[in-house]
Amino acid sequence: MNLTHIEHLGIAVKELAPAIEYYEKLLGQKCYSIEEVTDQKVRTAFFKVGSTKIELLEPTSEDSPIAKYLEKNPHGGVHHVAFCTDSVQTALGEAEALGIQLIDKTPRRGAEGLNIAFLHPKSTYGVLTEICEVPK
Ligand code: CO
Repeated sequence: MNLTHIEHLGIAVKELAPAIEYYEKLLGQKCYSIEEVTDQKVRTAFFKVGSTKIELLEPTSEDSPIAKYLEKNPHGGVHHVAFCTDSVQTALGEAEALGIQLIDKTPRRGAEGLNIAFLHPKSTYGVLTEICEVPK
């Protein structure tokens, strides 16, 4: 698969505000975007670290995947790693050919207008893996 770089790390947090404050101090920069992704029942906040971003994820409902993650990991934690590619659709086909279990068979729309799809942690050594593509 042609994955060019780690696009972002998704970090689950109970509350966005104090986590934003922490990352603003840690990284010495302001959060550049806050966005709600209704499809995934999360509010996201973004920082840039070189060519990689930090995506903070706060659940907006009790049945959010992030709420479920926080039940098991009450302090929060790294929820997923997202790799960048030219074509999510091509990457999904290649992943399937490699025997990797897919969560999404076709790309969907994520935060920042990216096309995204997830690979199942059962097939990825326990790491929820996102493949994403900046739409042309
Ligand atoms: Co993500």
